[in-house]
Amino acid sequence: MKFDIVTIFPDFFRGPLEHGIVRRAREAGLAEVTIHDLRGFTRDRHRTVDDRPFGGGEGMVLKPEPIFECLESLPLASREQRRSLGAKESVVLLSPQGELFDQKMAAQMAGLDCLVLICGRYEGVDERVSEFVADREVSIGDYVLSGGELAACLIVDAVTRLLPGALGNEASAQQESFTAAAAPTSDGPSSTCASGGLLDYPHYTRPAVFRGMAVPQPLVSGNHEEIRRWRRRKALEKTLRNRPDLLSRVALSEEDRNLIAQIREHGSGEVEKN
Ligand code: 6GU
Repeated sequence: MKFDIVTIFPDFFRGPLEHGIVRRAREAGLAEVTIHDLRGFTRDRHRTVDDRPFGGGEGMVLKPEPIFECLESLPLASREQRRSLGAKESVVLLSPQGELFDQKMAAQMAGLDCLVLICGRYEGVDERVSEFVADREVSIGDYVLSGGELAACLIVDAVTRLLPGALGNEASAQQESFTAAAAPTSDGPSSTCASGGLLDYPHYTRPAVFRGMAVPQPLVSGNHEEIRRWRRRKALEKTLRNRPDLLSRVALSEEDRNLIAQIREHGSGEVEKN
């Protein structure tokens, strides 16, 4: 998959996309990332990328010409062709005014051949970019960043790790928080930990006792059913505490409802078994 990032800060991307899974995916040829310096698409001596807003007001606005010219330099289908069903290319304008990025959008993007990410500045981008070249406007959350560069890194990371072969262990992407997995079944260790739209359960590794803090007993019991139930309870506990909004979107089993009732009754951490 190819990522094209359009930015006025090309150096910003030197570090963030050269570590861990993204780096390995790039080295393995699964992901290709090209940074496009918007100033390279200006025509004036000062390489001007922004200008004052029509109508007055604070801040500067990114000019349309360099962005249009940059996109025209890429081998992209026209927006009309991209709109057709099954288009494998998408042009995204990153801005706080966009649709919220989430795991579902990441999975959708991971099915593309090419994703173009245009990094806006917080003051604004000439609206003709959104109106006439971008396929969609995307935000990473309800807060304002000084630019879309951090958002671009975040999206490249979230999407790259979903590309087939990017993770050493294909199963781990399926099991963690937000993955809308099928309801857990009881046919072995691989199905004991599907989070199904809940936050992930807590993880522990050795030592079993660290500075007097012991790993929860069920995890060292060797009993797969006990481990599965403990993980489900902990995922529910954490979701209730940190993201109760997610619970309304999850299909809860009868076991889940019983566990939630227990958590509400006893509080978290009180009941390790039931
Ligand atoms: Cl994509 N850009 C900026 N500037 N701020 C944001 C954002 C994007 N998403 C949330 N806040």
